[in-house]
Amino acid sequence: LVLILDFGSQYTHLITRRIRSLNVFSLCISGTSPLETITKLKPRVVILSGGPHSVHTPESPGFPDGFIEWAESNGVFVLGICYGFQLLVHRLGGEVKVGLKQEYGKMEIHVENACGLFGWKNVGSKQFVWMSHGDEAAKLPNGFEVVARSDQGSVAAIQNPSKKFYGLQYHPEVTHTPEGMETLRYFFFEICKVTAGWKMENVLDEEIRVIKDTVGPQEHVICALSGGVDSTVAATIIHKAIGDRLHCVFVDNGLLRYKERERVMETFEKDLHLPVTCIDASDQFLKALKGVTDPEMKRKIIGKEFICIFDSFAQDLELKLGIKPSYLVQGTLYPDVIESCPPPGSGRNHSHTIKSHHNVGGLPKDMKLKLIEPLKLLFKDEVRQLGRIMDVPEGFLKRHPFPGPGLAVRVLGDVTEDNALDILRQVDEIFIRSIKDAGLYDSIWQAFAVFLPIKSVGVQGDKRTHSHVVAIRAVTSQDGMTADWYNFEYKFLADLSTKICNSVPGVNRVVQDITSKPPSTIEWE
Ligand code: XMP
Repeated sequence: LVLILDFGSQYTHLITRRIRSLNVFSLCISGTSPLETITKLKPRVVILSGGPHSVHTPESPGFPDGFIEWAESNGVFVLGICYGFQLLVHRLGGEVKVGLKQEYGKMEIHVENACGLFGWKNVGSKQFVWMSHGDEAAKLPNGFEVVARSDQGSVAAIQNPSKKFYGLQYHPEVTHTPEGMETLRYFFFEICKVTAGWKMENVLDEEIRVIKDTVGPQEHVICALSGGVDSTVAATIIHKAIGDRLHCVFVDNGLLRYKERERVMETFEKDLHLPVTCIDASDQFLKALKGVTDPEMKRKIIGKEFICIFDSFAQDLELKLGIKPSYLVQGTLYPDVIESCPPPGSGRNHSHTIKSHHNVGGLPKDMKLKLIEPLKLLFKDEVRQLGRIMDVPEGFLKRHPFPGPGLAVRVLGDVTEDNALDILRQVDEIFIRSIKDAGLYDSIWQAFAVFLPIKSVGVQGDKRTHSHVVAIRAVTSQDGMTADWYNFEYKFLADLSTKICNSVPGVNRVVQDITSKPPSTIEWE
């Protein structure tokens, strides 16, 4: 295991993904986690991430006391990156100062010592790297040597091979550091002697083993299928592990897209052969949401309603079939977990919750069922890979993500007012159909329409109208953590807006969302 201690850099998750792309399992936890949490994971390598802090500010985060001693006595390799590098220097007795010149962006470094960190074949004496720091190492701790310096003379890479401590002032994980991956590859495989054994096939075997160990031979599991990739892949894994002791339920919460219930149920039965019960709970959800406009409140309410339904589905199984399920499966992904609970002291949102993803943040404390989340350490593209290994149909795997709270987070304001859901469904269907017809569906991470709580004046058929405004949003992304807005051709947009205004009564204006994440999120609420 390569463990990443997160100190709040915007690149922390990129490091995790880069390492996984080398078929090495990596996990990211808060940099201020207790020593016990770190040691329990038994990592072979620990990476100290970058972060927006200076080691000199009193509230700056750091690894726990005893970490260095534990790493030394257990032969654990430590690599500090950017702030992590400065933290290492500072805590080992070196000196970190505000740099005379701040170094941001693309810089050149000179390799002074072509061994250790830069011992790889054909290492160039000069390299371009991505820097982003104000502080620099003014004095190295005892036993460390400089391996590379920046053009400006500041220390760019250090090592103490006998103690297995290394540091890079720059970011090797970003693509702007062209030789960064080579440096990481050399570090993991040649220096740390990590084995590249982490493959999706192994993940599947391991998941199945864990599920078999967790769920007793007489125990039953219920799974909430949403029709999306995550819950489908999660259910398929559990089905492989425990067979017909898995009972799936699909809830129509009244917040689904156009004809979604019919389409999804047909696929489950025909293609996936998963036994699924469909529950129509739209009245219950819409009643609970009536008058609610606060986005977090909506998410919490929806989460709570879902759990109530799962509980009563479980009770039904007991009454009718004498089966008492003990577990509830959820297709929670790694980004959901990270964004619902950002590490304290990480500098990222300072413990602010960005959004309570309903499958993480909204679970009541007194829930009767225990949770199984077989995907909670995986990113979306990894889940798709896992699905492919299990022969989940490609069409299913390529579906755009759809949030658990459904259209509720795409109708801004009260979802029960102004025929909003119905209008949104029609607009969304036209938008997605147009994208599919233009052959763009697979190039887009997610596309959807948003119902805005405003009206605007228009003129349709020579008459003044005062009707609704809808927004369209399409983004590209790797894992939903960051996203860019998708650039449609003008003709596509022009045709789309005409089609929407001509065929959806009550809409007289279409706008496009051209914001990336950050600063926005993908969904509007
Ligand atoms: P945001 O809007 O946070 O979304 O940038 C990132 C990705 O997560 C999806 N999303 C959710 N998925 N439950 C889910 O299962 C939720 O509560 C939820 N909120 C957002 C979103 O559609 C995007 O793909």
